[in-house]
Amino acid sequence: MTSREIKSKLFVCRCNKITEKVIMESILNGSNNLSLIKISTKASTSCGGCEPEIEKIILRFA
Ligand code: FES
Repeated sequence: MTSREIKSKLFVCRCNKITEKVIMESILNGSNNLSLIKISTKASTSCGGCEPEIEKIILRFA
């Protein structure tokens, strides 16, 4: 596995190095939509390519 593949699995938001765990914690602390998760974690505030993945996490945990 290449380092790029490892990063891709480790971070939901690769631009800002945000893991699924950080997003889940944000949801558990009340961020139940993408806008609030952006504010609290900075995920999806660069290229936006991770938005669909974050939406999936919201559906699973919110
Ligand atoms: S991968 Fe999340 S903003 Fe680019």
